[in-house]
Formats: sequence, C-alpha cells, structure tokens
Amino acid sequence: MSHRALRGRSPASAGAVALVVLCGAVALVVTAALVLAVPGQEHTEGDLPELASARGVDLGVAVAVAPLREDAAYREVVTGNYTSVSAENTMKWDSVQPRRGAFDWGGPDTVVDFAESNGLRMRGHTLLWHNQQPQWLSEGAYGADELREIVRSHTDALVGRYEGRIGAWDVINEPMADEGGAIRDNLWYRVLGENYIAEALWMAHEADPRARLYVNEFGIEGGGTKADAFYTLIADLMERGVPLHGIGFQSHFIVGQVPEDLAENMRRYTDLGLEVAVTELDVRIPEPVTDARLQEQARDYRRVVEACLEVEGCQGVTVWGVDDGHSWIPDWFPGYTAATPFDADYDAKPARAAMVEALARRARQGGAIRGAAAV
Ligand code: XIL
Repeated sequence: MSHRALRGRSPASAGAVALVVLCGAVALVVTAALVLAVPGQEHTEGDLPELASARGVDLGVAVAVAPLREDAAYREVVTGNYTSVSAENTMKWDSVQPRRGAFDWGGPDTVVDFAESNGLRMRGHTLLWHNQQPQWLSEGAYGADELREIVRSHTDALVGRYEGRIGAWDVINEPMADEGGAIRDNLWYRVLGENYIAEALWMAHEADPRARLYVNEFGIEGGGTKADAFYTLIADLMERGVPLHGIGFQSHFIVGQVPEDLAENMRRYTDLGLEVAVTELDVRIPEPVTDARLQEQARDYRRVVEACLEVEGCQGVTVWGVDDGHSWIPDWFPGYTAATPFDADYDAKPARAAMVEALARRARQGGAIRGAAAV
C-alpha cells in the first residue's frame, strides 16, 4: 500500500488502513526475528527444495535405511531440505545379493518407497564397484562368461525392479586407480578387461532404457593426471556410442580445498554432450571443529552449489549423509568430522544457509529459469 493510495480517503478509512499497515509491519518484524533466531538458518525449512526446483537442479542426500525407518527427525531433515535421495549402502552388492541368486529387497524398497511417497527423485547407487562385494563374488574365481552372466542377472534384477522409478544410476563407480592415470585393477577389469565398463552400461540400458546412466568418480573435481586419464576414457566411450549419459563428481572434500576449476572440469563433460552431477558432496573438518572452520565449510558448500549452477547440464548436488551423526567420515578419515550441513542433533549448520544463499542469489541475478532437472 503506497502513501498515494491513502490520499483523498476519509480520516476514518485512512486510519483503518494505517492500522492494517502497522499490523503488517509488526507481523513482518516478528517473522524476521523468529526466522533469524534459528541458528545458521536465515530462511525457513521449505526454502531449499523450493529454491532448488526453481533453479532446475536437484539437491539430494544419501540416506541410510535404519534411521529412515526409525527416526522421524531424520526423515524430516530429508523431506524438509532435499529434492532427491541416493541410497548410501543398501543398493550395493553385499546388501542386495548377499548370497548368489538370493536378493534382499528390504532396504532398497524402504528407500524407494520413502522417496516416492515424499515426491523425491531417486539416484541409484551403485552397480559395479570394487568395494562392498559379498564374499561369494569377490572370492568366486569366475571366468569371463560366468562373471558376465552374474553382472547381467544382478543388473536385470536391481535396475529392472525399479524400472521407471530410479531416474539415474551410478552404473560404474570409481573405475580409475586412486591416483595416477591407470584403470583400477578390480574384479571386473581383471576378468572382463577394460570393456567391462561399456558392457555394464549396455546391460543397464537394456534393463531400464529410460534411466540416465552415470560413471561416478572421485579425484576428478580438479585437474591432474587422474582427471585427464578419466576424461580420455569417457571421451572414448562417447565416441563408441556407448549408452552413457552422465558423469558423477563425488566431491569428498577437505575444508578449504574445493578445487578452483570445479566448474571448468564439469564443462569438459557437458561439452561432450553429457550431463554432470555432484553426487557425494561432503566437506570434512580436521578436529577440533571451530566456528571459523564451520564458516569456511559453509563457503565451500556455497561454492560447490554455485559451480553446479554455473554449468548448463549440471543436474544437481547430492550431499553424502543426512547429518554429522550419520556420516561415514569419522570412521573412514580418523581425525576428521562434521562434514555435512546438519549437526548430530539435526540442527542446521552454516553450510545449510550457504546453500540457500547460493540458490537464492542465482535466482536474483540470473532470473531465467533453467531446464527441468533430468533425474
Ligand atoms: C560409503 C558409505 O558412506 C559408508 O557407510 C560405507 O561404509 C562405505 O561406503 N564413494 C562411494 C560411496 O561411492 O559408496 C561410499 O560410501 C563413499 C565413497
């Protein structure tokens, strides 16, 4: 209501309008105070999913089955802040097919049903990896034909079960050696040769022709020998017409070490006609955790979301773990902790506000709505 609108009105109605304006102003101040009173959270709970959707990207999170079943507060962090989920462990071989031919769908069904009933998209994680293999597989001494059959029946069962319900699959996980430029010497490579990557992608494509198929890797977020060798591998797959649609940048970072050239490295792949996604973002902090480090972590989260928004063809950012109490970091990187945007009490950390900021700033500056998210 402008002052101009008040001119010419009777004193009584002008008074009524003034009262309404005053009430509105008071309500605004009260709301602002309430919102600002929540630490690390200058915006309301609903903002992240809405902002992400408005920008045409997914903001995802990796979930674990037990807290998803047992802990309402855990579920609320997911539904209140994210638009997609990945299964942290329950779709890996040792969970899905613990004995040959015996599938356990309990965990995967829990995750997919949860995602569907809450309107969240699903990323499937993962088909061929060197870790979390059941003993019957890793110690089975299979020949090429038999292993190929094992991969096919696993893929048919898992990808086929959720056909049309899981939008994107990490078909190949971590195909490069930890460091350097070599292909990882894993079970699949040893028995099937380098072509295992193309073979697995074709099998996944047959199991769900609509799914977006990814190769997911770490240590490719900045430049270097590994990143370049991985690029060569991917360019070759594209040249051969293999059904590959996306590259997952895992993005397990140490605070303060997000590569400057993250967006540039993503663009190498979008230039090949691929989509990209940040698939496993976390930013670990060396003990002790200080306010300064939490602020630095927030800047890192903001920069990663900004990098994705900068790159046409980046489908979104998935955070690896709902909260610091359910994060793999302390177990796997002793001395490091607090890697997610929520603390172990599910309170938002500065990193959450930083993601809101990245998405909101882009909204104000860019204006244009990006294409709909693909997963
Ligand atoms: C991790 C899980 O978070 C842990 O709970 C599990 O013990 C080991 O695996 N790269 C990946 C993920 O692709 O599957 C890994 O997840 C983290 C590294």
